[in-house]
Amino acid sequence: MQITNNTVAIVTGGASGLGGAVAQTLADAGAKVGIFDLNEDAGQAMAEKIGGAFAKVDVSDPASVAEGFKTLRAALGQERIMVNCAGIAPASKTQSKGEPHDPSVFAKTIGVNLIGTFNCASQSAAGMALADPVTEDGERGVIINTASIAAFDGQIGQLAYAASKGGVVGMTLPMARDLMRDGIRVMTIAPGIFKTPMVAGLPREVQDSLGAQVPFPSRLGDPAEYAAMARHIVENSMLNGEVIRLDGAIRMAPR
Ligand SMILES: NC(=O)c1ccc[n+]([C@@H]2O[C@H](COP(=O)([O-])OP(=O)(O)OC[C@H]3O[C@@H](n4cnc5c(N)ncnc54)[C@H](O)[C@@H]3O)[C@@H](O)[C@H]2O)c1
Repeated sequence: MQITNNTVAIVTGGASGLGGAVAQTLADAGAKVGIFDLNEDAGQAMAEKIGGAFAKVDVSDPASVAEGFKTLRAALGQERIMVNCAGIAPASKTQSKGEPHDPSVFAKTIGVNLIGTFNCASQSAAGMALADPVTEDGERGVIINTASIAAFDGQIGQLAYAASKGGVVGMTLPMARDLMRDGIRVMTIAPGIFKTPMVAGLPREVQDSLGAQVPFPSRLGDPAEYAAMARHIVENSMLNGEVIRLDGAIRMAPR
């Protein structure tokens, strides 16, 4: 699908990090970009910077997501690009010193990362499916989800996070198959370690050590590189039903 001045995109987690870079890149390509985020100040600021719109949304709550789609579709029109970047990454082990993993932390992580992705993808697909096709192939839209390499090489303390991201990987092919007759593609990107506020807050030596573990290029990923991948997925209609690792060939060790 080509991005034009009439193309509408919605990016969750667009206030920060990978989502922020995607919002900026799609806006630079000409799209009208709407942002869903819990962080109102940063979300508003990003929307203003890129000439887009913002809705305060908790992606884990289907009613909040429905309200967000109503607001942004009224402001911008029906989205053809849905990028799911909102996520959280708490660290906790299966048990620690005889105490089991806090079940509420596990459930919250699944709620935001997996159910949040499901809520936004399914509600976006329902809107896209009713819109006219935009290409000769009959394409109506594209959904891009964000997993993590933790879906495959989850580290110590990444139990809930890896489970949530494994769920996103598992949804990718069946969602693409469910939506094939509607002309909606579904792709997932599994990033390695990217220099977002989450990682940039770590001490310099920790960042350097993380970067050094990447075979090549031996550094942290730039969010703009993630955004370039998302843009390519939008523009390359043969990409569908697949998970792409974007990680400089790193395979994470247990810790
Ligand atoms: N940075 C990395 O190295 C890396 C690696 C692999 C995967 N990821 C994934 O990429 C995505 C983006 O990560 P990031 O590093 O940019 O993080 P980030 O913390 O910079 O941004 C995440 C954004 O999501 C928002 N958010 C959190 N919970 C939300 C909710 N319930 N509803 C709506 N918005 C919510 C936050 O307010 C924030 O703006 C996440 O899903 C993360 O798991 C990141």
